[in-house]
Amino acid sequence: MTQVSLKDGSIITIRKAVSSDAKEVLEYIHKISSESDFLTFGEGEFHRTIEQQKNFIYDIAKRKNALFIVAEIDGKIVGNLNFSGGLRPRMAHTGEFGLSVLQEYWGKGIGTKLIKNLIQWCKKSETIRKINLKVRNDNHLAIHLYKKLGFKQEGIITRDFLVDNRFYDSIFMGLTID
Ligand SMILES: CC(C)(COP(=O)(O)OP(=O)(O)OC[C@H]1O[C@@H](n2cnc3c(N)ncnc32)[C@H](O)[C@@H]1OP(=O)(O)O)[C@@H](O)C(=O)NCCC(=O)NCCS
Repeated sequence: MTQVSLKDGSIITIRKAVSSDAKEVLEYIHKISSESDFLTFGEGEFHRTIEQQKNFIYDIAKRKNALFIVAEIDGKIVGNLNFSGGLRPRMAHTGEFGLSVLQEYWGKGIGTKLIKNLIQWCKKSETIRKINLKVRNDNHLAIHLYKKLGFKQEGIITRDFLVDNRFYDSIFMGLTID
């Protein structure tokens, strides 16, 4: 668990998710899915029971190359980051992450702090040598954030998203750890 201050001076806690967070994490995911079109699921499309979410968090916590962290303000989850490395030895050194912050907290620096926490954790992990991510090419805020933290564009995947009958391309980005 770590406490960090944001651009406006407010303090957030960043900590690993635990199984007892499952219900709140699901409520959080349902909220964020109605606030952003940049996620891989829309409103009402994330189907996981509390029990499944508990098991998901538990499984991540057991793995050496996976991390699920939440950002909290006054005990309320306002952001999360979920990183997962490959399951086979040849892919275990690399992984992708998903990131989100509740809309009312965008622009305060929470996304930056969550990714910095991931990068630090990867450096200490002695397993992870590369972080990958995929971002919709019109998600300018997120692309700015990733570039600021050193991620480089590596490729484009066309027609990656289909939202409201419209295709969107994604950008692959990566950051080497070492
Ligand atoms: C992407 C997301 C996690 C970022 O979290 P956040 O807490 O708002 O991020 P931060 O405040 O740390 O950083 C945002 C940066 O974008 C900048 N920014 C804001 N609006 C922008 C825009 N329209 N274009 C470019 N940059 C923009 C901010 O100035 C800030 O940069 P700075 O630190 O250099 O000033 C959050 O916006 C979110 O949850 N979005 C919806 C889900 C999503 O898109 N997830 C990522 C999927 S790949």
